[in-house]
Amino acid sequence: MKRALIFGSTGGIGQAIAKQLAADGWSLYLHYDHNESAAQKLQKKFSQKFPKQDFFTLKLSFLDSMKDIKDILATIFPVNALIFAQGITDYNFLKDQDFATIDKIMQVNLVVPIKIVSFLENMLLKYDHSRIIFLGSVYGKQASALESVYSASKGGLSAFSKGYAREVASSHLTVNVLAPGAVDTPMNNIFDQDTLDEVKSEIPAGRLAQGSDVAYWVKTLLSEKADYLTGQTIYIDGGWLV
Ligand SMILES: NC(=O)c1ccc[n+]([C@@H]2O[C@H](COP(=O)([O-])OP(=O)(O)OC[C@H]3O[C@@H](n4cnc5c(N)ncnc54)[C@H](OP(=O)(O)O)[C@@H]3O)[C@@H](O)[C@H]2O)c1
Repeated sequence: MKRALIFGSTGGIGQAIAKQLAADGWSLYLHYDHNESAAQKLQKKFSQKFPKQDFFTLKLSFLDSMKDIKDILATIFPVNALIFAQGITDYNFLKDQDFATIDKIMQVNLVVPIKIVSFLENMLLKYDHSRIIFLGSVYGKQASALESVYSASKGGLSAFSKGYAREVASSHLTVNVLAPGAVDTPMNNIFDQDTLDEVKSEIPAGRLAQGSDVAYWVKTLLSEKADYLTGQTIYIDGGWLV
């Protein structure tokens, strides 16, 4: 079976993943929060290009109540891959972040993804080669000033994956984290061009990553032959930080 649910399919990285998987024969749930038009555009484009596959859009906010999230997820057709490419950050000193912002970052990046995995585990365990992939970050390992809460959420994903992977490894369900460095997406619109150029100059590969650099590893982890790699965090940073 090749059916995946991509959370955050409307983001810079999520769109690249969706494009790669659609081309590889996957049927997809294209999740979005606010960007309905991007999700619909993807669905329309893929449905025309790959008429034998199914493409559905799925709206939900990870800030909704868990009851609402479960009610929506209870209605989906079975999938054997979950890709968590949603995420938020806030670039600020901790003392300048209100508690609501801290809660939101942890909810969207870490807590709700874990609860969704718990809720959908039974579905994933029914299939021979099921996959969970989280988008982590190099900051989950190295951490960053002004993004300490974000770093904590990403480090949490790596620790969770390592432990949970052991719980489900015998069922051919693998759980891994792809942890990029700096990727050229709207998430980095908070930085001006000079700052981005400075970051670029620090990356040995000489450029920011593109979404496709991450999508390649999603494709690879989804391969049936990748059953034996689990609990890992793979850093995709052009030699930058890790
Ligand atoms: N860009 C980087 O440099 C970089 C580096 C390392 C790791 N990452 C990680 O990679 C992932 C994707 O990043 P990106 O650069 O593609 O980000 P992005 O372009 O800003 O996209 C963010 C995605 O998250 C969704 N989202 C936002 N708030 C949400 C909420 N409350 N509930 C559910 N979904 C929500 C957005 O949906 P809508 O647009 O529909 O609202 C969008 O699809 C994130 O986990 C990020 O932390 C990014």
